[in-house]
Amino acid sequence: MPLHCKALSFIIKYLFLEILNMIRIAPSILSADFLRLGAEVESISSSGGDWVHFDVMDGVFVPNISVGIPVLRSLRKGTDLFIDAHLMIVHPRFMAEAFCDAGADLVTIHLEADELPEIRRAMDAIHEKGKLAGISVKPATPAKALLDVVDQADLILVMTVEPGFGGQHFMNEMLPKIREVRRFIDEKHPGTFLEVDGGINAETAVLVRVAGADTLVAGSYFFQAQDRISAVHALRS
Ligand code: DX5
Ligand code: ZN
Repeated sequence: MPLHCKALSFIIKYLFLEILNMIRIAPSILSADFLRLGAEVESISSSGGDWVHFDVMDGVFVPNISVGIPVLRSLRKGTDLFIDAHLMIVHPRFMAEAFCDAGADLVTIHLEADELPEIRRAMDAIHEKGKLAGISVKPATPAKALLDVVDQADLILVMTVEPGFGGQHFMNEMLPKIREVRRFIDEKHPGTFLEVDGGINAETAVLVRVAGADTLVAGSYFFQAQDRISAVHALRS
């Protein structure tokens, strides 16, 4: 093969691999300054971030309360970014549609938040609203529990801390779970996003990417960074 063809085929292969490896960065506004929420969200796009991660906590499913529908509605008016809502609430079927109507693009619920048939109904309801449906598991829930819903999931979120608070330490013992979920996504439902959430920074990002995650939530690491552009770059590279 002539040299220039070889070079071209190398470039095509490289670009293809880059596309395959595309990593989405989803800063969690739980760590943002809520007084300046508009500017904080604007900084996600100006720093090269991809999604807004919107954490909803009810004080029952997790021992904390965060934001809900009115804040999401305002956020929707103020940004074109993809909004990734993470519902840490019990019985999510009753509220999932309201989060779709308020402007979420993707609504993730927890497998532990209700009985399986209700979880499946909630995911159907999200799809009927024309939105993406995600399913998340707490650290103690084994990967194989997700097999019951993987066929319906546009995204699987593996928690790498106990849900409820930002700024916690990454649980290294979640890495085998991420690898396992990667394997069955590839086998059973290719194209499903594999997101991780909790304790993600430049060091842990490498570990979860190698394990197979393609979507990285980062709260405190992003919002406390002096230079958010460099922070996003570090999470990707
Ligand atoms: C925790 C939330 C996370 C949190 C992550 O329950 O789901 O999205 O904001 O924060 P960091 O990245 O600081 O661990
Ligand atoms: Zn979250």
